[in-house]
Amino acid sequence: MQMPRIAALITLIGLASCGPDIEAIPQVSDSMATEMGVEKAQLQRGRDLYMAHCNQCHERVKPAKIDPEYWREILPHMSQNAKLNSAQLQDLQTYLIAAHGTVYQLNLQQ
Ligand code: HEC
Repeated sequence: MQMPRIAALITLIGLASCGPDIEAIPQVSDSMATEMGVEKAQLQRGRDLYMAHCNQCHERVKPAKIDPEYWREILPHMSQNAKLNSAQLQDLQTYLIAAHGTVYQLNLQQ
């Protein structure tokens, strides 16, 4: 049962090298914070919330898979599902949009 997993991993690495890695959950970086115009700590809180709460009912939906507009639309509902407060929702949303932009190397400045 190990071989198919290894094959899948190699495929993933192969795909990542020739395009954006849409499965990525990027680490918080200085440039992410600068581009979003927020504190790095806020992004880190958002990432921690995402890691802790967003795979309870379904697999983690990766930042790159959802457009920023749709993240803004769906997160109020999902953060209620995860029993987050409005400050936590803000942190989570900021991280997910920053991470989305990082994966696609978008200019995040608005
Ligand atoms: C209590 C269960 C629960 C929790 C916790 C939860 N979700 Fe969901 N999520 C759902 C259900 C059920 C759906 C599908 C239908 C709906 O309600 O929109 C869904 C759908 C989604 C979708 C839409 C997927 C698509 O392809 O359109 C996204 C994105 C999502 N969740 C993200 C998140 C994030 C981010 C978190 C962390 C804050 C989260 N969810 C926490 C239950 C949950």
